[in-house]
Formats: sequence, structure tokens, C-alpha cells
Amino acid sequence: MKDLFYLNKDITFLNHGSFGACPKPIFEEYQKWQLELEKEPVQFITVEAPKQLKRSREALANFLSCHADDLVYVQNPSTAFNIIIKNLKLNAADEILTTNHEYGAMDRTWNYYCRKAGAKYVQQKISIPLLSKEQFIEEFWKGLTPKTKIVFISQITSPTALIFPVKEICERAKELGLMTIVDGAHVPHHVDLNLSELKADIYTGACHKWMLTPKGCSFLYVKREFQNLFDPLIISWGYEAEFPSHSQFLDYHEYQGTRDSSAFITVPKALEFLAEHNWTEVKKNCRKLIQESYIEMCDFLNTKPICTVSDEFLGQMCSIPIKTPDVIKLKGVLYNDYKIQIPVMNTLLDFEGNSNQQFIRISAQVYTRKNDIQILKNALGDIRKKSNLIS
Ligand SMILES: Cc1ncc(COP(=O)(O)O)c(C=O)c1O
Repeated sequence: MKDLFYLNKDITFLNHGSFGACPKPIFEEYQKWQLELEKEPVQFITVEAPKQLKRSREALANFLSCHADDLVYVQNPSTAFNIIIKNLKLNAADEILTTNHEYGAMDRTWNYYCRKAGAKYVQQKISIPLLSKEQFIEEFWKGLTPKTKIVFISQITSPTALIFPVKEICERAKELGLMTIVDGAHVPHHVDLNLSELKADIYTGACHKWMLTPKGCSFLYVKREFQNLFDPLIISWGYEAEFPSHSQFLDYHEYQGTRDSSAFITVPKALEFLAEHNWTEVKKNCRKLIQESYIEMCDFLNTKPICTVSDEFLGQMCSIPIKTPDVIKLKGVLYNDYKIQIPVMNTLLDFEGNSNQQFIRISAQVYTRKNDIQILKNALGDIRKKSNLIS
């Protein structure tokens, strides 16, 4: 299956998680739309793209079990969260309850807007190893105070690659009258997602990671009753629209001046590709590879998994605790000397007596082989022998 991707064959690519990888047939569809745009820019941008965007929103909404008018395409989750957080009208007394496993860009966005408003971003500690949903739920809600207004949580975390029980959190938050905002960047076509059942108020996901579209294709879902809270991040023709559509939410966030929507409109093709290639089976095999590799690599590095090794907490990624004095240098050596593309990350998480635990994160996609894990293991063994970069 690696032949179906443009990935460089000289590189052992173990980082699908960061930016995804797009199969050739989906990339060709992307280029087909870009060519259509160049052939007739005016017709494409004013007539064809809005038609195709509608078709693409309908396909995605059908896949995610929501209404096509309740989601808009955006370039990336950062854009989606900036639309949301900028408009929240936070007050000095407000608290946003989150975890200490969130993505750095989102932490920065919340910190920026909370600082302006004097609000507090409460990064509740979720201990690792994570052994049960109950453990998570109990720890998370310890951060609740009478000032909590909003719950913000990743469904799959980036540094720790853990699946969090967001359904249970959203349900309890609803009972408490809190707004729920879920960061599902890694979720679409990685773990099952049914937005009608999840009942999050706001959800964002990237299609260019596990759904295999070209880069720059993500979505923002907002429950109908909250849509009028959010002004556009970019004020353009969709604001006070001359010819308003049936949805101000779509007008506001879909029109941002001249832009190329080609990545957004590859979603129907991506979903077709995934169905044709029996992705349910692919995902199952990748999970199996991840779970086997996790235990094997932890043993090899004399460390321990940070969760129960099961489908409950792990999808197609796992973060292995590693002890290194320099994550950047280790990542560089792995890439430059061993041709392995893999993230090595610093965190502020406590694990087994380390207060700044570092992680190396493996992603498994259809093109990942058991042998790729062996290549990584050999490289780490070699580095450990030759240097003090791994202890
Ligand atoms: C949890 C999480 N949120 C958000 C993002 C994406 O953010 P962006 O593409 O806007 O940088 C990622 C990307 O890896 C992520 O892991």
C-alpha cells in the first residue's frame, strides 16, 4: 500500500499523526479541482466551488452523523478554535476546565484569550498511567469550581496519544450546564465519531490526518443553538451578505475572500477511497500493530506503557516514555542518520519519578510494517550504545 502514497521510500515514516499523508487517487482529485479553478477562476470560485462545498459538507455530515448546515470547512483546527475562543466573551471570573495533555497550539490560544479577559485556563492533572475511564473522570472533575464555564478536551491527545472518554465528560458537563468544546483533530476516520450521539456543543477535527485528504482540510462543527455566538474570524463578503443564504453560520465562515477550496472538496473522494479499501480492517490491523509494538518498545527502553494497552485508550498511535536529555537532537539523529521520521517530545507530565517526561510517538497507517518498528528499535539501540542521548 505504500505505493499508493507519495511518501519517500528512503524514509521510515512513523509520523502519520502530525500532518497525515494523502493517497495518490485522492491527491489526483485535489489537483483535478485545482486545474478546474485555473481553467475558469470566476466560474469556479463563484459557482462551482460553492456547489462542491455543499456536496462535500453533506458527505462529511453524513459520515459524522450531523446536519450539513452545522459544519464548515476550515484550514486547520487552530483556525477553528480561534473562531470559537475569540468570540466567547470570557469574563475575569470565568474558568475553562481542561487537562494537562492538550495540544500546545490550543493551550497557547486559550492562554492568549484568557489573559486578555483575566479568565483562568485550568489544566487539570490527569495522571499516567491511565488505567480506567473512572480514574480519568474522577481526576478531571476535581478541577470543577463554581467559576467553571467551559470544558475543553481532546478526544485523542497529541503528546500522549491517549483516547479520552469525551462522551462521559460531555454528558456530565451538560448536566452541569457547561459548554463543551472538543478537540478531535486526530479523530475522523481514526476512532468512531457520531456527533449526534456525542452531543458536544463544539467540535473540530482534521480530515488531512486519518481521513487522508490533502493538507488544509479540517472542519468546525457548532450546535445550531450556539451558531449565532460566533462572528467570522475574517470579515469578508459573507458578513452582512448581499445575497444571504439560508444559514448565517455558513455565510460567515465559508466566505473569506479569494481562496482555493480544492482540499475541502476532496472529502467525498476520500470517503469513497476509504470505503473501497476496506478501512475498517486496515484500522484493526494498525491498532494490533500499535498494541504489540507498544509493549515491545517499552520493554526495550526499560519503561512502561502510560495506559492499559487496549482499544479503550489506544488507536493508531502510542507514546512511549523515553529518557533523553535533548529531544530535538534525538529527533534529528533519528532522521538524519537513520532516516526515521518520528516525533520526540518534551512534556510537563510526571511519570515514574520523572517530572518532565519525554515521549517518542509511533503512528501506524496502512503503509506501516512490523519491520518499520524493528528499524526504529535497531536505531534506538544503536544510539543508546554510541551516545548518551538515550538513558
Ligand atoms: C490534539 C491536536 N489538536 C490540534 C491539532 C492541529 O492543529 P493545527 O493543525 O491547527 O496546528 C493537532 C495536530 O497535530 C492535535 O494533535
